[in-house]
Amino acid sequence: DKYMSESGINKDDITSGRVLRSRAWFDDPSNADMTALYLERYMNFGLSLEELQSGKPIIGIAQTGSDLSPCNRHHIVLAERTREGIRQAGGIAIEFPVHPIQETGKRPTAGLDRNLAYMALVELLYGYPLDGVVLTTGCDKTTPACLMAAATVNIPAIALSVGPMLNGWHKGERTGSGTIVWKAREMLAAGEIDYQGFIKLVASSAPSTGYCNTMGTATTMNSLTEALGMSLPGQAAIPAPYRDRQEAAYRTGLQIVEMVAENRKPSDILTREAFINAIRVNSAIGGSTNAPIHLNAIARHVGVELSIDDWQTYGREVPLLVNLQPAGEYLGEDYYHAGGVPAIVAELMKQGLIHEDALTANGRTMGDNCRDATIEDERVIHPYDKPIRENAGFSVLRGNLFDSAIMKRSVISDEFRQRFLSDPNDPDAFEGPVIVFDGPEDYHARIDSPDLPITDRTILIMRGAGPIGYPGAAEVVNMRPSAELIKRGVASLPCMGDGRQSGTSGSPSILNASPEAAAMGGLALLQTGDKVRIDLKKGTADILIDDAELAQRRADLEAKGGYPYPESQTPWQEMQRGVTSQYDTGAVLEPAVKYQRIAQV
Ligand code: FES
Ligand code: MG
Repeated sequence: DKYMSESGINKDDITSGRVLRSRAWFDDPSNADMTALYLERYMNFGLSLEELQSGKPIIGIAQTGSDLSPCNRHHIVLAERTREGIRQAGGIAIEFPVHPIQETGKRPTAGLDRNLAYMALVELLYGYPLDGVVLTTGCDKTTPACLMAAATVNIPAIALSVGPMLNGWHKGERTGSGTIVWKAREMLAAGEIDYQGFIKLVASSAPSTGYCNTMGTATTMNSLTEALGMSLPGQAAIPAPYRDRQEAAYRTGLQIVEMVAENRKPSDILTREAFINAIRVNSAIGGSTNAPIHLNAIARHVGVELSIDDWQTYGREVPLLVNLQPAGEYLGEDYYHAGGVPAIVAELMKQGLIHEDALTANGRTMGDNCRDATIEDERVIHPYDKPIRENAGFSVLRGNLFDSAIMKRSVISDEFRQRFLSDPNDPDAFEGPVIVFDGPEDYHARIDSPDLPITDRTILIMRGAGPIGYPGAAEVVNMRPSAELIKRGVASLPCMGDGRQSGTSGSPSILNASPEAAAMGGLALLQTGDKVRIDLKKGTADILIDDAELAQRRADLEAKGGYPYPESQTPWQEMQRGVTSQYDTGAVLEPAVKYQRIAQV
């Protein structure tokens, strides 16, 4: 039997008689000349005819690591172990590059690249002889880009996180990725450290290979990938350099072959119940404000109904359990030692907050995977009845400024509460005059100007920073006050805008405003000096100007051609601007959404 492989596994044993899609390339007797054409080039680096025609699953390793993508670079090493797992289980590994994304290094913003990597990966997964794929996830946008592509194509897929860096340390204190940058900037602005001290402090937070060690977008998205069921249980939190990470790579390789054999596809795992599980886990971990954008995008590509309001409905009342920076004290290594995602899921399960029947990558349910998990360190993961903060999910706000924006409740500090939410007659609302900035460059140019009418009651507005205005959307809404105010002890002001915010920032900003100013949302009509009122209980954010005046401003702006934003600098910026949706619907490439389950066999 020509299908008998070296290890003695018969094709039929693996797939129960189902023909794998890779056979259409490598082993189609009805099309012998085409088969030969495909075969000869995949043999040119030493794969044998026997391997390619063995009937074994061809498993892609979608490699996101490279020198340009340092957060994910360790995947180059991990892929060796993943290959061994794939081979051990009877598959053949084919590794290929994914468009690299590095969150902090990409100009103008890595937000542009999520959809670009998505689109390119769809093309690879669809157009090559791949029966299943290991998605190597990590740095912020790499994870949703991979999951979105797997959702569209719908071949069996499993995520492998690269894991966080080791904890950063400086003078006996933990220094966390990003979070230390915001702090060091304030210290530099206040004259407490010089430039050398600033660099040293920031570099201390990056002691090893891996991604941000705080609860930023990377730790969030990898945790939520596990909560969705798209990876092996327990693997998201393992620090990159640990031996356990290598073992997880091996086990992930074993698992994907089994998934192909069972034809367990993303659409079987990514159900509405799985997304609701992820929303609840996101609140408990204090997850990034980028999570709703990315999860809503994945949901749209797999064809699951998920709205921005679901984040408030299912997530808002869940307490904060994970004590990681920026909302808390600890970092990635501590998160792993405390039990990681399974411990959190188990804690939420006891409250009936998890859909236990949700299927996961290993073929077991979320409930079965996590039921016996325990919290190993209650300083880092709090039990449900002793939370760090109650009601830690996102609030969704709306009004004449936007149809929706979100606020991360878990980072509202006591100091912020006292300054802005202390009126006993009005404890959930604050209002103040705004200063409007048109993009981050405008902010940086003017924030320390002596003419700026800034006080300790000012609300800072960032606009022109959304998916169209600053193509891809910039992480710029969290703005420090002027150096003058910081020296007087005002460390933060309320910020609001149509940009995103780094997951590593501890600022309680109102962000991801949809529609953005560039799409003529209400933010486009604001002027410095206007008063804005925010009511967290009612979930409203409004300009305190009458409707007639707003209508006049809108007409005037439209007569001038709309809210102005800079020209595109690259071809992709222009293309993406033409087809992107707003944040509330995932900031996806709108024409891509109708392509669903395109390579399902
Ligand atoms: Fe890549 Fe944070 S910048 S993970
Ligand atoms: Mg980020």
